Amino acid sequence: MLLRTDRGFNHNISSEITPLSVYAQRRDFLQRMAAAGWLAGGGVALAQSPVTRPGKLAPLNATVSALAGTQASDTPTPYKNASTYNNFYEFGTDKSDPAENAHTLKTRPWSVEIEGLVKKPGRFNIEDLLKLSAMEERIYRMRCVEGWSMVIPWVGYSLSELIKRVEPLGSAKYVEFITLADPKTMPYVGSRILSWPYTEGLRLDEAMNPLTMLSFGMYGEVLPNQNGAPVRLTVPWKYGFKSGKSIVKIRFTESQPATAWNKAAAHEYGFYSNVNPNVDHPRWSQASERRIGDGGILAKKVKTLMFNGYEAQVGQLYAGMDLTKNF
Ligand code: MTE
Repeated sequence: MLLRTDRGFNHNISSEITPLSVYAQRRDFLQRMAAAGWLAGGGVALAQSPVTRPGKLAPLNATVSALAGTQASDTPTPYKNASTYNNFYEFGTDKSDPAENAHTLKTRPWSVEIEGLVKKPGRFNIEDLLKLSAMEERIYRMRCVEGWSMVIPWVGYSLSELIKRVEPLGSAKYVEFITLADPKTMPYVGSRILSWPYTEGLRLDEAMNPLTMLSFGMYGEVLPNQNGAPVRLTVPWKYGFKSGKSIVKIRFTESQPATAWNKAAAHEYGFYSNVNPNVDHPRWSQASERRIGDGGILAKKVKTLMFNGYEAQVGQLYAGMDLTKNF
């Protein structure tokens, strides 16, 4: 992301360069996937999941969901890349920092508090959240505002399952997501890069869209800390920063909540932040993207799709809105 320093704004260019070694990692990954029968071709392969587990963390079983739909080019990003090339500023600003530093995050005990305009506010222990609805595996394309993307098999369920249980009041129009800010375990909380805690928000109808996912795992295992353990949001038609990690509170509000990157640079990061190849970031184009794991610095760019390719599922949420103003 764009970094704010004492000298103004700097783009974090050094971290944009993926080492060539990822090319070899991808080839290995594809070979393993082929051996597991997972690359047998498009949708057929999907039905044959569960994904080959990396075998690093506890398994998190799920039934395979076709809700998101996949495209021919949706080869999952190698786990190695998805778990070592991260943005999680509470643990540092380089892409490798979260994987190196997030071992200090304590994911148990953990609970998520529900507050604001709902009939049933309260606190859910992570154990109860894990049992709240059937776990699904969904392969989502994830597009970062910086111009790179990944394809990740998430494990979780639609956030709407939780929202229905807490019964929002008629006055609730937005949902705010508040993430953990613990200076004892998160070395960069307290730094001036962003204001903490990292918060995000959605309109209630966006939060209720079935694609909006509460995720507890990826690649058939519980989330690594650096990817937002024990529970995070995944919103595949929006730039990655909308998907808050390590969520501790969900608040239902009448007015639009403030969000971390919007507070840092309102003219660059809007509330909606839908993936949109026709609306450039003020300082770079959003028309194309580079798939992490696809050949490193040699990766050819691919065209970015409207709403990241999920227009059929979410386009109607924005009918009649000027997306250049509501960026
Ligand atoms: N959530 C928190 N709490 N802190 C962060 O710094 N970074 C965001 C988002 N969620 C971030 C966060 C950004 S900019 C991106 S691109 C995604 O997480 C990255 O998710 P990933 O590392 O799992 O790919």
